[in-house]
Amino acid sequence: MKKARIILDKDYAIGRIDPRLFGSFIEHLGRAVYGGIYEPGHPLADEQGFRRDVLEMVRRLGVSVVRYPGGNFVSGFNWEDSVGPDRPSRLDLAWFTTETNEVGLHEFADWARKADTRVMYAVNLGTRGPENARDIVEYANHPGGTRLSDMRIRNGAKDPLDIRLWCLGNEMDGSWQMGHKTAREYGRTANEAAKLMKWVDPSIELVACGSSGYDMPTFGDWELTMLEECYDNIDYVSLHRYYGNPTGDTPGFLARSMDLDAFIRSVVSICDAVKGKKHSKKQIHLSFDEWNIWYHSGARDKEIWQREKWGRALPLLEDVYNFEDALLAGSILITFLRNADRVRIACLAQLVNVIAPIMTRKGGGCWAQTIYWPFFHVSKYGRGTALRALTDSPVYGCRDYEDVPFIDAAAALDDEGTVTVFAVNRDMEEDFLLDLDLRAFGDLELKEHILLHHDDVRAVNTEEDPERVAPAPGPGGRTDRGRAQVVLPALSWNVLRFSPRP
Ligand code: AHR
Repeated sequence: MKKARIILDKDYAIGRIDPRLFGSFIEHLGRAVYGGIYEPGHPLADEQGFRRDVLEMVRRLGVSVVRYPGGNFVSGFNWEDSVGPDRPSRLDLAWFTTETNEVGLHEFADWARKADTRVMYAVNLGTRGPENARDIVEYANHPGGTRLSDMRIRNGAKDPLDIRLWCLGNEMDGSWQMGHKTAREYGRTANEAAKLMKWVDPSIELVACGSSGYDMPTFGDWELTMLEECYDNIDYVSLHRYYGNPTGDTPGFLARSMDLDAFIRSVVSICDAVKGKKHSKKQIHLSFDEWNIWYHSGARDKEIWQREKWGRALPLLEDVYNFEDALLAGSILITFLRNADRVRIACLAQLVNVIAPIMTRKGGGCWAQTIYWPFFHVSKYGRGTALRALTDSPVYGCRDYEDVPFIDAAAALDDEGTVTVFAVNRDMEEDFLLDLDLRAFGDLELKEHILLHHDDVRAVNTEEDPERVAPAPGPGGRTDRGRAQVVLPALSWNVLRFSPRP
């Protein structure tokens, strides 16, 4: 059996894990809202039309924040359309559908409360600007006594909605974006919007748009230029990244977290370069507010648009995730834990039906896609302090990288003294014997080994067979005086929970 080694020590801490690392995203797109979280008339719908079964699955996932209402959608959106009794239907030019505004700000805030999560609200800096951004902060967060805050009260929310985290637009360097801008234009607009928003409510935090992708020609220059303009008034820079495997190259696909790590390091370097240039004491952190695998649904989406442009709640971006997607999702989460000192917010894009861990059928059931599971595990057990997992693993080569470690791992120490190791074995053929040096923690025992594995990388979950790819107990191993040996089966996601021996 192949061998790898991990050394852990409580003094090798990366930093506290911000619970907002386990965020997600719901956009007014496809069946995310209409037919996803909201389906009045469904047997399990509550008094507001929200599906109770979906709420339960979201709560179980432990989603800490949900970015809303877009995405590309937000760049043409008028927030006023989504509050009060008058809800106009409008063309959504981001997704070529019709938005009815039936679910709006108040309804979503109610849904978020029911889902035990917080709203992360994106303002429109595409077709609109600082004035509207200021207005929505006043509407949502000001206690009362002004036209906008009193309007909120009249619309049913006596208390402020208390939205703490705001995105200054979405992917503004993308030519597909309504109101697309140059970096200088965006930086100036974001800065002015940020000033006004924080003057209304100084307690809020703001995320400025980084470039919409690491492979965008704008990447790098965009971050530098826009940060020069708005560094002092914002708190986070956003990163977005989606991966795909259209050629079926599993080893190459599983290596994509190396790209993610390089992307994060580049953005950190740029933030710190601007900090240095400005002689600033302020540290900007990262909000990885869109991440996922996204490629399965492309051809179907084209067909849908050809057939039914301007439809409502079209089944767009409904990727069906397979087992290898779950492994990469696991490696992405591992990468976030390894960068927990700078990545403070991350949103799995998205949450329901649209490139999502949770799927629903109209009038029917809901089920967990394969990628639900690594998120569930890291959100549940990846709390406390991220530890540096010094990993010694054999490596392999693939198209883009020569030195991909077969074992990809991260660790967390929770406040009860439990050490959790998350590990992906990327080897297609062979099991690994993982040797863990945990002596710095005293006498620990392996309480639990959770395993996600399937012999077929293309295996998927469906409503009829929802547990085809589901976690099961792993082979475990032995622990003796702070040393542990655990078997990580070929192609597997593993969660190893070590607790102090009673
Ligand atoms: O998540 C789907 C889309 O991907 C979002 O609307 C956009 O921000 C990104 O390009």
